[in-house]
This record gives sequence, structure tokens and C-alpha cells, in this order.
Amino acid sequence: MICELVDVTKEYPMGELKVVALAGVSVGVDAGEFTVFAGPSGSGKSTALNLIGCLDRPSSGKVLLDGKDVATLADEALGAVRARRIGFIFQSFNLIPVLTAAENVDLALRLAGDTENRAARVEKALVDVGLQDYLHRRPSQLSGGQQQRVAIARALVKKPAIIIADEPTANLDSTNGEAILELMREMNERDGVTFLFSTHDPMVMSRARRVVKLKDGHVVGDERRA
Ligand SMILES: Nc1ncnc2c1ncn2[C@@H]1O[C@H](COP(=O)(O)OP(=O)(O)OP(=O)(O)O)[C@@H](O)[C@H]1O
Ligand SMILES: [Mg+2]
Repeated sequence: MICELVDVTKEYPMGELKVVALAGVSVGVDAGEFTVFAGPSGSGKSTALNLIGCLDRPSSGKVLLDGKDVATLADEALGAVRARRIGFIFQSFNLIPVLTAAENVDLALRLAGDTENRAARVEKALVDVGLQDYLHRRPSQLSGGQQQRVAIARALVKKPAIIIADEPTANLDSTNGEAILELMREMNERDGVTFLFSTHDPMVMSRARRVVKLKDGHVVGDERRA
């Protein structure tokens, strides 16, 4: 198991009240999976991804990464684990606007302290997502689909244990969304890269190999396909 939530709750204080975003969720992701968290808006998908990705800490329960309880790690150590082991892809791409595609990808390696042979690895990651001709463009000079490919290259370049993607196709038209998903499926099948998504998109759900359904902060379904 790469990462696992064990009976996790997450509550957010809202004045006198509290919002229960996750109400006792247990779910794990194994190496090689291509899994989606599905469910209505507010069901807890992003909250669950952020906990699995160690961007946030639970109110109760355990978050295990490589079998280790991340609660035992101080913020700095947790940040280091996250930089090395987890790749993120966001709905709004989150590229740094003043950096070129290559520099954005390179930054992920620098943050991970992974400095060997950087230039060649950055170029390979961008070639792998079909952007060989766009290495030196800035995000504003790229289409949405191309920006999301840069984000995939940035996540992949450090060879993380898992790539977490919160609604990666939400800001793309259906053609670009399908192409991005196809690219991720290929990386999963060919290179064994582990992916975990959240989505509302029926197209994304139909391509997933496992669908975990969330509702009101509970897991209400978990289906695997061949
Ligand atoms: N920082 C926060 N403060 C207060 N409440 C929050 C916070 N983040 C999320 N919530 C609440 O927690 C619940 C779960 O939110 P979450 O973002 O995980 O849902 P989601 O399934 O990702 O929804 P969507 O499909 O709209 O992205 C919601 O009721 C939301 O309003
Ligand atoms: Mg969300």
C-alpha cells in the first residue's frame, strides 16, 4: 500500500459550528492503481486527496504513507516526503507564470533536492507529454491542454510513488480532457505510474480502473474493473 487513510475524520470549524468533511473514511491505494474518487460536490473528494497527499492533517484517524504514520513527522519532514514521493496535478494547473515550461518542471526536481542529470530529465518529461517544441514557452503562451501537460511532466519528472490529481480535466474542453486522460492511462499501463483522481466527469469515471464513491464524507462504494 502506498498510502492509506485509516478511519479518518476531518472537521473544519465554522464559527460556533463545525463542518464534517470526512466522517470516518478508510481507503488505501496500492502501487499501479488508476483510481478515481467520485461523488457530488461537497462529498469530501478534495479533502480526502489533500490528506492522502499530505497537504493537510486529519482531525482524527491515521494517514499512512509507505506504511508510516505521517502524524509522527514534523511539518518540515512531511514537506520533504511530499516533495519526493507525491506528484500533484491541479484543476487550475498551478504553473509559475514567470517560468518557462522547462523551468517549471525543473523546479519540482530542485524542491525535491533531486539534482542529478536535471536538464536531460526535464527534457524527457516534456517530450513524454508531447511538448518537445514548447520547452521555452511560458504558461501564458500555452493552451490549457498544453499547460496541463506541463503540470503532468512536473509531477512525473521526480518519479513519485503516486500522482494525485484533483479534477484534472475540469478546466479543459472535452477533446483536451480526453487526450490528457489517455496520456495518463498510457503512463499507468506502460510505466506503472500510480494515479489517484477526483472527478465529476463521467468520461473520467469510465476510464478509471477503480471508482471509490464518496457521499457526505463517507465511502459508499468501491468498484474495481478489469
Ligand atoms: N477550508 C474549509 N473550511 C470549511 N469547510 C470546508 C473547507 N474545505 C472544505 N470544506 C467543506 O468540507 C466539505 C467537503 O469539501 P470538499 O472540498 O472535500 O468537497 P469535494 O467533494 O471536493 O467537492 P467539489 O466536487 O465541489 O470539489 C464541504 O462541505 C466543504 O464546504
Ligand atoms: Mg473538490
